[in-house]
Amino acid sequence: MSTRTPFIAGNWKLNLSGEEGIALVQALAKPAAVSRAEVAVFPTALALQAVAKAAAGSRIGVGGQNCHWEEKGAFTGEVSASLLKAAGARYVILGHSERRQFFGETDQTVNRKLTAVLAQGLVPIVCIGETLAERDGGKLEEVLSRQVRGACAGLSATQLGTLVIAYEPIWAIGTGRTATTQQAQDAHAFVRSQVHALFGGLADRVRIQYGGSVKPDNAKELLAQPDVDGALVGGASLKAGDFGAIIAAA
Ligand code: 13P
Repeated sequence: MSTRTPFIAGNWKLNLSGEEGIALVQALAKPAAVSRAEVAVFPTALALQAVAKAAAGSRIGVGGQNCHWEEKGAFTGEVSASLLKAAGARYVILGHSERRQFFGETDQTVNRKLTAVLAQGLVPIVCIGETLAERDGGKLEEVLSRQVRGACAGLSATQLGTLVIAYEPIWAIGTGRTATTQQAQDAHAFVRSQVHALFGGLADRVRIQYGGSVKPDNAKELLAQPDVDGALVGGASLKAGDFGAIIAAA
């Protein structure tokens, strides 16, 4: 087992009102499972402040699901890293495949957002992952390498000190189909090798979460892999029982 602290994150996506989110963190904050994991939830931008207040003083951190790269200005509909921070966020998810697929996110925009998030002292979770066609076409390593390099372009190992990467194979998100533990471990080891090639010793510290249909019944085996340092959980993070069981598995 590595010395990296496992990190279990719940990406609520477009689910849960402020009230529902408060109820969920209150249920999670009860000292049920003993776990050494760092834990965070990611409500909608609108619910974030209320959930962060409810989670204050507990072991549960709160983060945003996205942000804009500029701090303020004429950017209708956007939210900045500094506003997320002021609302109580400690983390920001960047480059989720749903944002890449539906909202035009690119490696370049992820890079600009990553720079903004780090400048605010927030912890970034950069999401990467391949489609099934890319995997079947033998392009897995090419895609992951391009996404890591693109996201981190122009940044130094010192700036990236808190970087978290989430490897989420797109074919495993919301499908009930999980990567095998071997597929996950192989991809994570490859991603770590890319970070090593770019940033040396940062590779030993960077935490790489697995995401894609993580459930209570597969979490333990995935989290036991040497290069799997946590999980980014979608559907199962919406239920206190399931998410609590995944936290306990870490
Ligand atoms: P599911 O756990 O619902 O497959 O979602 C994974 C995910 O996209 C987390 O960011």
